[in-house]
Amino acid sequence: MNVRLLKAGGKPPMELLLLADPSQSMVEAYIDKGECFVAEEDDQVVGVYVLMSSGSETVEIINLAVAEEHQGKGFGRALLMDAIQQAKRQGYKTIEIGTGNSSIGQLALYQKCGFRITSIDRDFFIRHYEEKIYENGIQCMDMVRLSQAL
Ligand code: COA
Repeated sequence: MNVRLLKAGGKPPMELLLLADPSQSMVEAYIDKGECFVAEEDDQVVGVYVLMSSGSETVEIINLAVAEEHQGKGFGRALLMDAIQQAKRQGYKTIEIGTGNSSIGQLALYQKCGFRITSIDRDFFIRHYEEKIYENGIQCMDMVRLSQAL
């Protein structure tokens, strides 16, 4: 897997970004403000992550997605580790990521990669999304924020 920074003016892989964030308007609002990294394998785009500075010492992974047909093969973990290394290289001291209370697999993956829960933004998904979201039989209501020191 090769990971590269999407150049200014490059076309972000919107289909992939929408896997992680169902709101196209939210994705469009942040995509130009962050750095979009695209992962390729055999000339195919397999994944994406977006880093956005949230202070001089803190950076947030605001989007992370692997193409459905390539999920479960270790690309998600590899992308997350790449994002952590990238943030370190850029001199940040803390990296953050957020996910829904119903995203059981993501909560497992992030904790396996060293993230710890720092706070819960209750009703975040009720305030920001018009449609109700269900995953794993659980309504997605609260944003679970995790972070790790770099
Ligand atoms: N319980 C325990 N561990 C679980 C789990 C569960 N329910 N679900 C997943 N995992 C673990 C896997 O076992 C694996 O652990 P390992 O590396 O120790 O074997 C790890 O989580 C993920 O495996 P990986 O193959 O690297 O993940 P992936 O390539 O499928 O990518 C996502 C993970 C989340 C990026 C991918 O599923 C995706 O794009 N989902 C849609 C978009 C999304 O939800 N993005 C995150 C927004 S918050």
